[in-house]
Amino acid sequence: MNIFVTGHLGYIGVHLVELLKKAGHSVTGSDLGLFEGCEWEPLPKPDRDLRKDVRDLEESDLRGHDAVCHLAAISNDPMGELDPTLTQRVNRDASVRLAELAKAAKVKRFLFSSSCSVYGGGGDKALDETAPLDPLTEYARSKIETEQQVAKLADDRFTCAYLRNATAYGHSPMLRIDLVVNNLLACAVSTNEVRIMSDGSPWRPLIHCRDIARAFVAFLNAPTQAIQNQAINVGGNTENFRVRDVADQVQKLVPSAKIRYTGEVGHDPRNYRVSFDKLNRLIPDFKLHYTLASGMRELHAKLLDHRFSIDDFTGDQFTRLRTLKNRTHLLGLTPTTK
Ligand SMILES: NC(=O)c1ccc[n+]([C@@H]2O[C@H](COP(=O)([O-])OP(=O)(O)OC[C@H]3O[C@@H](n4cnc5c(N)ncnc54)[C@H](O)[C@@H]3O)[C@@H](O)[C@H]2O)c1
Repeated sequence: MNIFVTGHLGYIGVHLVELLKKAGHSVTGSDLGLFEGCEWEPLPKPDRDLRKDVRDLEESDLRGHDAVCHLAAISNDPMGELDPTLTQRVNRDASVRLAELAKAAKVKRFLFSSSCSVYGGGGDKALDETAPLDPLTEYARSKIETEQQVAKLADDRFTCAYLRNATAYGHSPMLRIDLVVNNLLACAVSTNEVRIMSDGSPWRPLIHCRDIARAFVAFLNAPTQAIQNQAINVGGNTENFRVRDVADQVQKLVPSAKIRYTGEVGHDPRNYRVSFDKLNRLIPDFKLHYTLASGMRELHAKLLDHRFSIDDFTGDQFTRLRTLKNRTHLLGLTPTTK
């Protein structure tokens, strides 16, 4: 198949390009390159590399493709608050427009990278896709509104699905350490401390970034009737953890590191456990390759191999928000914009 991947230079996208190429697909990657130069290992090459803002894509860019995997986004809650209008323009408006262009270009399948953060402060009960949505951030609102607006385009000739991904962690050639597991492990390796900014009680559904990429491949191969116009949580039922449980696992890998609760952000209102029964029911062949323990072991070994240092931990390279703040001009914002 000919697959159009947006955000192919991101943390998850680089895994997806590699998996699609391995499976024999032809890949067009389309990305603005916001984090260019931040990679810590060589990146897989798509067959075609489009350096374009997702807002500027045209129907002609999409023609000849069988499916779109749409990952390009201002990609997490704190970044979404940097400029809420921009977040909606890029994450919602450009996503809906992209789906319209894809449909006009006769692309058959549109897979949208949504997020379990749409459940917000759900609490201790495992939430399925019918649970009330409780978006606490502009980022989460942008994901819900995109799902709702793209849903209107789905029909017999255009299959749409919304992958509500759990919070990613783990090794990627385009590493991020601003995600909870990676942050705690990178902090322990570089500072000998596990610094927890909340009180450690919030639940998070976790998934290895490569397993998210594998889920996209599974959704490309899934029968239309299984996924048509469905929002589906992507993760594993045994992979919901409290932040303090993650910290305990970090300490097992770095026994000398002390756990410290900094209380910096007080009680983090984002707290949700998620059920992945629907995924298991609709795409039964899809199984996670990683558990939190195996994914953390892999990342720990990589951090040691790369001699991950305190400069790496405090620098811009691996932290999206810090890099983005210096590159807002790429998104058409003046540096003075908040
Ligand atoms: N990482 C997670 O925990 C997680 C969880 C759930 C959902 N998601 C979603 O998965 C997708 C990928 O996440 P990621 O962690 O790989 O993010 P990332 O920030 O590493 O990658 C996003 C990519 O999108 C590109 N991009 C951003 N704005 C763009 C624009 N206007 N035009 C073109 N390209 C643009 C960036 O250059 C970057 O390469 C996002 O949609 C994100 O919201 C991520």
